[in-house]
Amino acid sequence: MSLEKPNTMKKKIVVLISGGGTNLQSLIDRLHIPENNVEICAVIADRPAYGLQRASEQNIPNFIIDRKQNKDRWTQEFLGKMDVFQPDLIVLAGFLSILHPAIIQRYKKKIINIHPALLPKYGGKGMYGLNVHSAVIKAGEKESGCTVHFVDAGVDTGEIILQRKVEVLPDDSPEKLQQRILNEEHKILVEAVKKILQL
Ligand code: GAR
Repeated sequence: MSLEKPNTMKKKIVVLISGGGTNLQSLIDRLHIPENNVEICAVIADRPAYGLQRASEQNIPNFIIDRKQNKDRWTQEFLGKMDVFQPDLIVLAGFLSILHPAIIQRYKKKIINIHPALLPKYGGKGMYGLNVHSAVIKAGEKESGCTVHFVDAGVDTGEIILQRKVEVLPDDSPEKLQQRILNEEHKILVEAVKKILQL
């Protein structure tokens, strides 16, 4: 007997990315598996991104909605896709554009983001990728980490769902710290999705 659950029973996740997509890969490996009650129904990038290839390899529908176009048009196209896919949860996994308030409004408490620091520290505009880890090291912090939070109208200000601490080592470079934090991101993002969707 097949363990695969019929599609109608499955919760649906849309994942938004801008880059390499290692967090997406973690969601694919740990959640998007036949015996689970959940599937990644689409991956959307705001620019050409390697993560789209990860989606293609799993036959997950994937699209670029180009961030260079007019913001209202971007939002319309995005909402059109959401009408088609009807996700239970939208996951920002290394997604670097700011979503229009109309999207936040429509999907209140249904959009989560992973951030590579212990919010509320080191969040906000310009705080992404290596910038975050450089700032943490420059400030002489002894610990950093990662946060999964709901997305609200601000930048990195929404309600915190899960955090994990990571020690900052005396000889850390931004790249080394980034890698150790990324390993923890891969775990807490999956945990947060399971918690919210009650998987
Ligand atoms: C991750 O470290 C994520 O926390 C960060 O971008 C990286 C994406 O990596 N997001 C932000 O900085 C958002 N402010 P990935 O593409 O390998 O998942």
